[in-house]
Amino acid sequence: MMIIPQPGRSGTRPQPKKAKIAQVTARPKTFTALVKTQITYKHHQLCAQLLILPSLQQDLRRCEVDIWPGTFPIPRNELLKRISGKDALFCLLTEKIDEEVLDAAGLSLKVIGTMSVGHDHLSLEEIKERRIKVGYTPGVLTDATAELTVALLLATSRRLIEAHTELLNGGWAKCAWSPLWMTGWGLAGSTVGIFGLGRIGQGVVRRLQGFGVKKFVYNGRSRRKEGEELGAEYVSFSELLQESDFIVVTCALNDETREIFNDEAFSKMKKSAIIVNTSRGGVIKQESLIKALRTNQIRAAGLDVMTPEPLPPDHELTTLPNCTLIPHIGSAETTAREGMALLTASNIIAGLGDCPMPARLC
Ligand code: NDP
Ligand code: DGY
Repeated sequence: MMIIPQPGRSGTRPQPKKAKIAQVTARPKTFTALVKTQITYKHHQLCAQLLILPSLQQDLRRCEVDIWPGTFPIPRNELLKRISGKDALFCLLTEKIDEEVLDAAGLSLKVIGTMSVGHDHLSLEEIKERRIKVGYTPGVLTDATAELTVALLLATSRRLIEAHTELLNGGWAKCAWSPLWMTGWGLAGSTVGIFGLGRIGQGVVRRLQGFGVKKFVYNGRSRRKEGEELGAEYVSFSELLQESDFIVVTCALNDETREIFNDEAFSKMKKSAIIVNTSRGGVIKQESLIKALRTNQIRAAGLDVMTPEPLPPDHELTTLPNCTLIPHIGSAETTAREGMALLTASNIIAGLGDCPMPARLC
């Protein structure tokens, strides 16, 4: 959604001030209703109100909202057209917010609220230069994403999608109770390596603690105190690759992590290794992964994120029986999505009101 200034809004701020919002993609019904509002700029009042949903609704009712009605992401040309003159933008990870978009928005754009914790779709340097505030959604989706990561790990290691397909295609009738049919690989006694022991990575370790894992190792930019608390050992990236039976990728995508899982990385992994990625597709060099899966250099992969997204149904990845694919649903849980929507709206309202944003990125 974008926020549009009312006529005469530039210059010294009148009290109270109004703004217009446009939503760039279809939202849960409640949220769409929420954003048809207008802002109050009584700072103290606003800060307090942000914590309370009904009050937030009231604040949002004071914004004018330009909503993208499609269920698919707003086409680039539409975004470029509609963002012009808006005060704020409510976007998803599907919108690349770069110089072109910022130029199209013009000087009026003051706040960007992305309904995501990942922010690799935002050109932050460019945004900072223009002194635009950015809000994001850390925390409210951690449980949902950690839970989904564990689900994907188990679906991959215990071959759930393959097994379901066998049930549908008659394979069960041919192989029922054949001792090794559909056997997978359990977590008990294994070493689990986490790449990126942030909020979600820690959530994954906590959830896996009941599965009899022998050892947790992790790698990131540096050792973290949470690692100690969770009983996870900090190791180098090479050690993580060499030691892990299961590698869980929960890092942020940035210049250092882009395609860090490449030919060299896969060559260091155990032949029995299973890799699960719920961070961003760009962290894995996909040609290298496909080669590693085809040649059984590693055992299997579970991907919630990939390149491109959406993945064409006839993509080579979909032909690999040892690759479990799901369509970027890490945070797709009702409470998480509601929390993300509300936090994004709160960030925008606070940013426009010059109040501390509940989750400011920059
Ligand atoms: P956090 O910021 O808490 O964690 C990010 C992790 O990435 C940290 O552990 C950090 O390491 C690591 N990291 C960052 N840069 C590097 C680097 N250069 N080298 C090694 N590690 C690095 O974020 P969250 O846990 O909340 O989210 C993580 C990511 O998950 C998001 O950025 C997003 O891309 C993705 N995500 C995907 C979802 C889905 O639907 N699949 C849902 C939600 C998030 P360090 O410990 O050193 O700081
Ligand atoms: C994020 O927030 O970064 C996820 O990828 C979507 O929830």
